[in-house]
Parts: sequence; structure tokens; C-alpha cells
Amino acid sequence: MIPTLEWTADGVRFLDQTKLPLEETYVLATSYRQVADVITTMVVRGAPAIGVSAAMGVALGVKESKATSISDLTTEFGAICNTLAATRPTAVNLFWAIAHMRDLFSALASKPGITREGIADALIKEAQVMYDEDIAACKTMGANGAELLPETGGVLTHCNAGALATCGYGTALGVIRAAVERGRAIHVYADETRPFLQGARLTAWELMHDGIPTTVLCDNMAASLMRQGKIKAVVVGADRIAANGDVANKIGTYNVAILAKEHGIPFYVAAPWSTIDTATPTGDGIPIEQRPEREVTHHAGKQLTPHGVGIENPAFDVTPAKYVTAIITERGVLRAPYAESLAELEAIPTAR
Ligand code: MRU
Repeated sequence: MIPTLEWTADGVRFLDQTKLPLEETYVLATSYRQVADVITTMVVRGAPAIGVSAAMGVALGVKESKATSISDLTTEFGAICNTLAATRPTAVNLFWAIAHMRDLFSALASKPGITREGIADALIKEAQVMYDEDIAACKTMGANGAELLPETGGVLTHCNAGALATCGYGTALGVIRAAVERGRAIHVYADETRPFLQGARLTAWELMHDGIPTTVLCDNMAASLMRQGKIKAVVVGADRIAANGDVANKIGTYNVAILAKEHGIPFYVAAPWSTIDTATPTGDGIPIEQRPEREVTHHAGKQLTPHGVGIENPAFDVTPAKYVTAIITERGVLRAPYAESLAELEAIPTAR
């Protein structure tokens, strides 16, 4: 399996996604601040992966703490959580994971006789359970979504919603993997995904690793390929899904959704339940991260644009629910009206 991130006795080990596909190198984060840095600089990226990374960062922060009382540890814990929460604003999985760790910390800290070591051990264990659950959710999503993909033909994806964006297997790429495992002859078309090139660098690398036929296209080529009948379905991931089914995902997803609708091609979104934010009524309320201008002005250290020109670099966009054919989750496949189907599945109690 692709080793995206891993808890080790020395800290959290990350496959450095900024170096792929040419170098497979690892970064070992030995403090929670380093974990925060690894998330901000996108050494690790993708909504589910940054959620579990943050949970591991919280556990690491408590493990390395020198607090001598539970009261001091509680103050320090708040700062650890706030640092990790300030890394990236859009993917709700990050805040979901930190809230989960906060709840566990509060329950543990109020236990009589609890020690810092006892809390650290429980938080480390919990982060590892979240890691395992993320992989399990991806596999179930794959099983739920595989049948929606064509028996044969091209499937377009945008950004990287694969093993590299999760703890393993992937969301959108998990659905593709599951379809291929079930014998479907799928050819993946991966949008390059300017400016960070998650499609060209990461999706292409991970699908080639698994021997799944893949073609990379520039972001402005999708319409032409759709018109030629080369694309039978689109499947993408998500960073946050609002209560009405509006989907925030990598910048350019909205373009693809409109093109898919125009060409009568189904547009699927695959995401774990931790990506659904029923507290945000519509996509208008989803905070969109603005990334540094340099990601647009430069490539591989070389300047592409004239000095001083205006630059836009929103990292995500919002696709209105009306363009989404179905949302594939580990709890089932949702269809419009999403306000109702999301609320219905939200009400079903889970194992934990
Ligand atoms: O900026 P990134 O690379 O973290 O953005 C990632 C995406 O937009 C993915 O499509 C999304 O997180 C889904 S990952 C399973």
C-alpha cells in the first residue's frame, strides 16, 4: 500500500508529496508544530489525510508535553489544537478530527488519577483507530460506488483523491480502484490540476503504481475530450460538503461539473462522512483557502509571469449541488435532494 502517513515510535512519518513523482522521500515530524508545518506546506494534503495527520499531531503534542499537572496540560492542549486548526481552512475533516480529539481529551482529563502519559497513550491509540477507519471507509465507498462507473471507457478525475489524499485506497480513486478490481476496463483521464499539479504528479503516479491505465490532460482539455465521447463518467473527491449538497473541492472542479452536465455525463463525488458539514447550510458558507501567489507565478523555481501582474490563487471552488449526480459515502450513495438524503443518513447511528 502507498505509505501516505504513518505513526511511528519517533513521530509521524509522511511521504513527501511535494517531491513526487520524481523522488520518494519521507519527512519525520517529531513535534506537533512540525506536523502543522507539514500540513501547511502540503507535504501531506487531501482532506481525509490532513484530518488524520492533525489527530496524530494532537497526540504527538501531548506525548512530548512537559506539563506537570493536568491543568497545565489542558492549557497546552488548547494551544496544540489551535495551531493545528490554523493550518488549512477548507477541508472540514481537519476540524472534525481535532474536535474528536478535544472530546476525548476532555473525557480523559476529568477522570480521577489520570496521568499525562495515560492521556497521551489513549490519544495515540485513537489517532491510529482513525487511521484504520479512514482506510475502511474508503474501501466501503469503493464498494458502494464501483457499480456507478461504466463497464468500459474513460473516467475523468480532478486533483488527487486517492491513497495519497487519505490513509490508503482513496475516495474518488478508491471508487475507480474498486471498479477495476471488479473487472471494469476503465481508463482514467487525470486533469493536471494547475497550479499544484496534484493530477499530473500524484494521481498519475499512484495509478501507474497500481497499473491502472491513465492519461494526463491539461485542465483546459476536458471539454474537447467529452465532446469526442472519450469520457463516460467523472468522479472527484471533496473537501467539504454543505448541508444542501454543495461541494467544495480543488479549484477547477466546478468547471468540470458544468462541462459534464452540458455533455450529459454523470458527475460523482466520493467522500467520507467526515467531509460532510451539516452545520454549514450552503456552499456560500465554506471558507476558501487562498494559496501563495508564487504557486501560480513560478514553476519549478522558474518565473512564468511578468513581475507585478495581478494573481488569483484560490485553492478550492464550490460546485452547486444541482451539478452533482450522486454523492458516494461509506454510509451509502446519496441523490438529490441532498438536504433530505444527507439528513436521513446523518440520523443513522454509527458503530462508535
Ligand atoms: O489542496 P489539496 O491537495 O489538499 O486538495 C485536495 C482536494 O481537493 C481533494 O480532491 C480532496 O481533498 C478530496 S481527497 C480524498
